[in-house]
Amino acid sequence: MKYDTILVLDFGGQYCHLIARRIREHHVYSEIVPHDITAMEIKQIQERLNVKGLILSGGPLSVYEVDSPKMDVGILDLGLPVLGLCYGHQLIAYLTGGVIKPAEKKEYGITIAFVKKPVGVLKGLGGKQKVWMSHSDTVYKVSEEYEVLAYTENSPVAAFKHKKKPIYGLQWHPEVIHTEKGMEMLQNFIFEVCKCKPNWKMEDFIKRAIKEIRKKVGESKAIIALSGGIDSSTTTALAAKALGKNLTAVFVDHGFMREGEPEFVKKTFGKMNINFVTVTAKERFFKRLKDITDPEKKRKIIGEEFIRVFEEVARKVGAEYLIQGTIYPDRIESGFRKFSDKIKTHHNVAGLPSKMEFKGIVEPLRDLYKDEVREIAKKLGLPEKIVHRQPFPGPGLAVRVIGEVTPEKVEIVRKADKIVREEIEKSGLDKRLWQYFAVLTDTKSTGVKGDARAYGYTIAVRAVESKEAMTASFAKIPYDVLERISTRITNEIPEVVRVVYDITHKPPSTIEWE
Ligand code: XMP
Repeated sequence: MKYDTILVLDFGGQYCHLIARRIREHHVYSEIVPHDITAMEIKQIQERLNVKGLILSGGPLSVYEVDSPKMDVGILDLGLPVLGLCYGHQLIAYLTGGVIKPAEKKEYGITIAFVKKPVGVLKGLGGKQKVWMSHSDTVYKVSEEYEVLAYTENSPVAAFKHKKKPIYGLQWHPEVIHTEKGMEMLQNFIFEVCKCKPNWKMEDFIKRAIKEIRKKVGESKAIIALSGGIDSSTTTALAAKALGKNLTAVFVDHGFMREGEPEFVKKTFGKMNINFVTVTAKERFFKRLKDITDPEKKRKIIGEEFIRVFEEVARKVGAEYLIQGTIYPDRIESGFRKFSDKIKTHHNVAGLPSKMEFKGIVEPLRDLYKDEVREIAKKLGLPEKIVHRQPFPGPGLAVRVIGEVTPEKVEIVRKADKIVREEIEKSGLDKRLWQYFAVLTDTKSTGVKGDARAYGYTIAVRAVESKEAMTASFAKIPYDVLERISTRITNEIPEVVRVVYDITHKPPSTIEWE
């Protein structure tokens, strides 16, 4: 069966993922594709998916600039419904003979739109609408073939429609919660205009994924790197159902795991009907990291060493297939996004480079978002502790020790991390936080402990709220919780004399310190 699908053309807008997620929330499948996809390529996608409509995302540039992203105009003649949002709205108008100029008055934030013709995307939404705007160019005029559906005080063409074809433009962002009836607008597009059927369901996904794994691997053996994180755990559980004893899950303990983690992973997966191997490789990792202080070098070394260990096991068990927990944002971020810059090398040691020699690589979660993975994990009966676990970087605590990594320093940050986790979880704050952890800085300072001078380490506490980790805000944790964390860390870890709280958003910071 082919899923009814809406493709989102990516013009570099920050809400691109949000659009696709909103559509999927309505049980309609959605994929993000590059903005320069051709009409022919869309036809090819039709062989795999039942494409019922297209959404053109927002973007940071101006449509009239020479280098700004454009699109194949042939797409507008495919007969498929099209909805342009913000930049997408301006682009359709621009390519079809409209007038777009810098706005005399820019609109940012909640704006009132006056809907004069509530049809199509705006069906049932007449009168005044509270919408979320963020634009510095404005469509002043559309060509003869189009008609204006809504305007605002500063945008004479805030929404339009082609007079004959199902092509729409909205200057605002319906995918953002501040657009009061944004969901209705998207539903109108998905169900009224595109006539999609809501056939993207997680129950069906599980059955299909198991079948796919069986078909690809056949009677051969497969191996998976299991870190205990949500993605690799869910993939392991799926693959276990598909392959049973033909699957070997490998947990590499590189020595940078959190307190209790190796034991927890062993306990959870050791009882599954698969082969489960733990490799304790602390010594070789510490040896290779000796004298290394550069964060990028650290990541590279850990990534490489991980592969070596993993290869050794793969050879031993005779695995021909590699199963990976890659999810949709991983693929998109490392794929075609032309406007995104490389900030740091995310050596996801649960996702190995395809350089390794395998007959095939299977990535059952490749099309899923994190929240969908959590839903699958729950349906597969994985423990709550895994379903709601905070993300943890592949290189582990090694990137939470600033400067050279030594066993002593890792032990300090491990103890501090345990205290941060315990206190945050006790306070009930964990449910709204994306991540919360401790970092061992390389700053030493003076303190006083038991009437004596003490000279020791500074621990930084980091807690952030985020949706997809692309942006994050530092969490406004109550002082009494911070106080308990600070008191416990300085009392229970003799080497630490000072605790600071990181109050930087991402950007300009990143979530991890290294
Ligand atoms: P940053 O620090 O770039 O992190 O804001 C964004 C998210 O990614 C996680 N992270 C990693 N995950 N391998 C991973 O699997 C890595 O090397 C890595 N580095 C950062 C980080 O914890 C946050 O959730």
